[in-house]
Amino acid sequence: MLKNRLITRRSALWLGLGTVVGIGALVKGKTTDWSDRNQVLGTPKRDFSVVGKFSLKQRAASKGLIYGIAITYPSISSDQKLAALIAQEGGMLVPEWELKWQPLRPDPVNFDFTRTDWIAKFARTHGMLMRGHTLVWHESLPPWFKETVNRQNAKQFLTQHIQKVVGRYAGQMHSWDVVNEAIDVDDKQPNSLRKTTWLELLGPDYIDLAFRVAAEADPKALLVYNDYGLEYDTPRHEAKRNAVLKLLKGLKSRGVPIHALGIQSHLDASEKHFNPRKLKNFLSNVADLGLKILITELDVTDNKLPLNPAVRDRIVATVYEDYLSTVLSEKAVIAVLTWGFSDRDTWLSGFRPRSDGAAVRPLPLDANLKPKLAWNAIARALDRAPKR
Ligand code: XIL
Repeated sequence: MLKNRLITRRSALWLGLGTVVGIGALVKGKTTDWSDRNQVLGTPKRDFSVVGKFSLKQRAASKGLIYGIAITYPSISSDQKLAALIAQEGGMLVPEWELKWQPLRPDPVNFDFTRTDWIAKFARTHGMLMRGHTLVWHESLPPWFKETVNRQNAKQFLTQHIQKVVGRYAGQMHSWDVVNEAIDVDDKQPNSLRKTTWLELLGPDYIDLAFRVAAEADPKALLVYNDYGLEYDTPRHEAKRNAVLKLLKGLKSRGVPIHALGIQSHLDASEKHFNPRKLKNFLSNVADLGLKILITELDVTDNKLPLNPAVRDRIVATVYEDYLSTVLSEKAVIAVLTWGFSDRDTWLSGFRPRSDGAAVRPLPLDANLKPKLAWNAIARALDRAPKR
């Protein structure tokens, strides 16, 4: 089938080495061939068949997109099979945990880059891009933070953290989530800013400061504002989309060096209020500001779906395909990252567990590293995406 696949000159250029390696490895039987998987039973509606035998990385690259995967050091450093699959399928890595304050800052003075250096080396060794998450967040702060950081020294702590962390990987990082989840409409603060430690210590300008310091520390990295709760056609999400758009407009108007919006995209398979037109309109409004868009933490929780794994997998795959088909139609979207690769490692096991105690199934691979229909769904959406 690979030989019969018409590879246009341009897509061949895009696929480049990846295709040669792909074909070569396929011939030698080394690349995992997941394209001719049997269709799983379940609601027999959509045909999730996939054309060709390319990896998600190759399918994305052929459209000028990046497909990436969030990883954790314990998992990728201990499981060679998973590491190999991530290197085969992912064009970019993002540490799910290791680049946050708590793991990096054992005390107010020292930094521990052991794990992040290992991850950066893994990415370089496998020719993968890497993105950083996250420099400023109200969660995952170290235990010493509350009794140490105050209004007098907060600016110095924030500035030093960004300079040290971004500076260490300067030139290697595709992008950084500089500020994460700064908007919360429920907090009733001016401009819907979330009432975080950073807002209390430094005022609203902490966001501008973080981006300006990050830009000085690594002029090459794409600087991203990242948030969740932007995806659905609900009053809450609509209000948050408006607040985020207002934040982005303000940052741009002040000449703050922000380059992209990250939409976390933690989807819910039982959420019925998905309106492609409204989401596309929001994406277009963001793009009109001259910003790129990254889908930064994609997964699909199935905790309210029926127990039957085959039925769940089919519904989850449908959500993946419909959401990605919508967002990838906006050419300002440059990357899609899933928040993990195998169900075995998903954070949703703890954050969105099933009441029946069954293991959740939100990601492209199952707990035994076998591809699910979600993998097909992502592949199909990438294959149909317009070239960038
Ligand atoms: C989560 C990680 O997945 C967990 O492993 C960790 O314990 C807590 O943080 N939005 C974000 C991410 O921006 O940083 C969060 O990641 C998930 C929600």
